[in-house]
Amino acid sequence: MDTKSSTLNKDLIRRLQEARERTRYLLSTVSDRDLAIQHDEIMSPLIWDFGHIGNYEELWLLNEAFGKTLSDRELFDIYDASLHPREERPSLDMLDWNDANTYLDAVREAAIEALRDADLGPGSGKLFRDGLVYSMVLQHEAQHNETMLQTLNMMKSGYRPEPRVELPEGNTPQDGMKRIPAGAFLMGTDNEARALDNERGAHEVYVDEFELDTVPVTNRRFIEFVEDGGYEQKHLWDPDGWNWKVDEHIHGPKHWYQPEKHDWWTQLFGFDERLDLDAPVMHVSFYEAEAYARWADKRLPTEAEWEKAASWDPTSDSKRLFPWGDSPWNGGRANLDQLAFRPARVGAYPRGASAYGVLGMIGDVWEWTDTDFHAYPGFKAFPYREYSEVFFDDGYVVLRGGSFATRPCAISNTFRNWDFPIRRQLFVGFRCAR
Ligand code: AVJ
Ligand code: FE
Repeated sequence: MDTKSSTLNKDLIRRLQEARERTRYLLSTVSDRDLAIQHDEIMSPLIWDFGHIGNYEELWLLNEAFGKTLSDRELFDIYDASLHPREERPSLDMLDWNDANTYLDAVREAAIEALRDADLGPGSGKLFRDGLVYSMVLQHEAQHNETMLQTLNMMKSGYRPEPRVELPEGNTPQDGMKRIPAGAFLMGTDNEARALDNERGAHEVYVDEFELDTVPVTNRRFIEFVEDGGYEQKHLWDPDGWNWKVDEHIHGPKHWYQPEKHDWWTQLFGFDERLDLDAPVMHVSFYEAEAYARWADKRLPTEAEWEKAASWDPTSDSKRLFPWGDSPWNGGRANLDQLAFRPARVGAYPRGASAYGVLGMIGDVWEWTDTDFHAYPGFKAFPYREYSEVFFDDGYVVLRGGSFATRPCAISNTFRNWDFPIRRQLFVGFRCAR
């Protein structure tokens, strides 16, 4: 390697390679047919995600960054998410698995070649400084890894990845909620090396005193809601949520079924298993989470409440990157990185506690908030409008915290995810506030 290359350049090259190994690992056991077909109308064919990962890299790490192009225009059309809604994607003339692999390798070789002596220093443009565009492309691949896992979770033929960690024991806390005193905190971030546009900039937000569940709502609790007739009590539901539930004939979380009364089972990655009562409830929509909260005489936290409870350290009046502090994730702090392929039982990561003592805020399951996806004050789209701006104030709800399927480079206390309030394919649960 060129001796001019800085530590950052070398580190980025290593991280790009590691990201690709993971993507290929996740798909390595999937048949050609399952790669090519659409498993659910709200998801892309896996082969589209795969080609799109490569094309996004060509767009940002070759085309936009260095004015280079390898493929013809057609690929930029096929893999442009904003040109083709997901239901349209199966009919596109996508590269097959072999051709896509060849394409991804060619893009990668050229991208690394260009990166070797790219200037990522303070004098370089905004796109390059501190490696922002590389961080964006790495996070993009990680995000599509999670999307692919959502698809694999809906695949009829089943997906059985080998877990690569043993999950720690759960420990349901005795105190149900933590009190977060009233006061201002710093929401969002000014980080320009890793944060995406919608997380910027840092701004002061005053939050009234509130209480937040120490751990996410468990299957045990959610079963109580279901068995108490929660899905039949109209007053608990938002009118839109009630209509959706009636139209879709929904009586419980996605994938749940009951072979016998009080015996609740689910399907995870296509395989049947009895529900783990102490694990967080998963695959509920925003509307179901909200109805549960109302049934429990609580409510969902706002996005600001969630971020304050996760990130604010009241003893030093400063902000943490992760609930446990600023040091990087490791396996003792949270269930991330597609190692377990399921959430841990609640309370399993005492070392991942936030300054307020709230547990499990990062990892296991995404958490619905009560806030619509919107722009922070002074928002500027960067580097492109279609990442965030076109989704603001358009019916999407904010989710926080990441899941077992989220890679560590793609999550922090300020990361904002969003989806429609009826969606349940995400590895998503929730906790309540009061
Ligand atoms: C942030 C997860 C909502 O999947 O639509 C992927 C991420 N942006 N490619 C999505 C994303 C461009 C995005 N989410
Ligand atoms: Fe994408």
